[in-house]
Amino acid sequence: MRKQIAAANWKMNLTINEAETLLYTILDANLEVSENQKVVFAVPAPYLTLAAKKVTDHSNVFIAAQNIYSKKSGAFTGEVSVTMLKSIGVDHAVIGHSERREYFNESNEFLREKVKLCLEENIVPIFCCGEALPVREVNQQNQFVQTQLEESLFDLSADEIQQVVIAYEPIWAIGTGKTATSEQAQEMHAHIRSQLAAKYGEAIANNISILYGGSVKASNAKEIFGKPDVDGGLVGGASLVADEFVAIIKALK
Ligand code: G3H
Repeated sequence: MRKQIAAANWKMNLTINEAETLLYTILDANLEVSENQKVVFAVPAPYLTLAAKKVTDHSNVFIAAQNIYSKKSGAFTGEVSVTMLKSIGVDHAVIGHSERREYFNESNEFLREKVKLCLEENIVPIFCCGEALPVREVNQQNQFVQTQLEESLFDLSADEIQQVVIAYEPIWAIGTGKTATSEQAQEMHAHIRSQLAAKYGEAIANNISILYGGSVKASNAKEIFGKPDVDGGLVGGASLVADEFVAIIKALK
């Protein structure tokens, strides 16, 4: 049975003191994260070690890197590898966030290498996909997302694909306050699941968590997460506010 997941993406925000306070406040909020749920914090790289240590005594709570490099080690100044993450107890990584695709020119092919590497090291890739506004305006979003999946994920084996978490994030809804309607989210999530089913079969497609991201907040989480193919969210801005993120966790199915 696929997991319901609330994933915080802090992006490039917070000092160490602010990060510690935010994480501790959320973890101390009497969180009950059940076995069919996961809470994930994608924190800035300098805070990964501290955060990974802090969550060890909290069941079903995990720490994610916001990015990795596509090689395990070597002369790649400034990059972070899956091997390093593994060694500090980090077991998730956000791959292909639209900000990395846009500002760092990460292509579907490059992201395919990163996903592969995560799986080799038992790191769960949270693979992001989603269309920009001009694509939606000409109603090409399904084909656009399908190409992202095909080029980055569809050479994985049936075993491997089930380790991946997919996050659908329409770029026009990220940080804009403009959320996709729950119907728009459901429609795309059903499309993604149907593509997974066509490639890997329905049973496998039903095992894969598909998160929605884009202006999720306490006030809309319940409705969005309530849709049958939406298995939680990847949350940016609202994850920086303890009360908001706690409410989002509580909105999980
Ligand atoms: O990774 C999270 C997404 O980019 C969503 O960000 O919740 O601030 O719109 P947002």
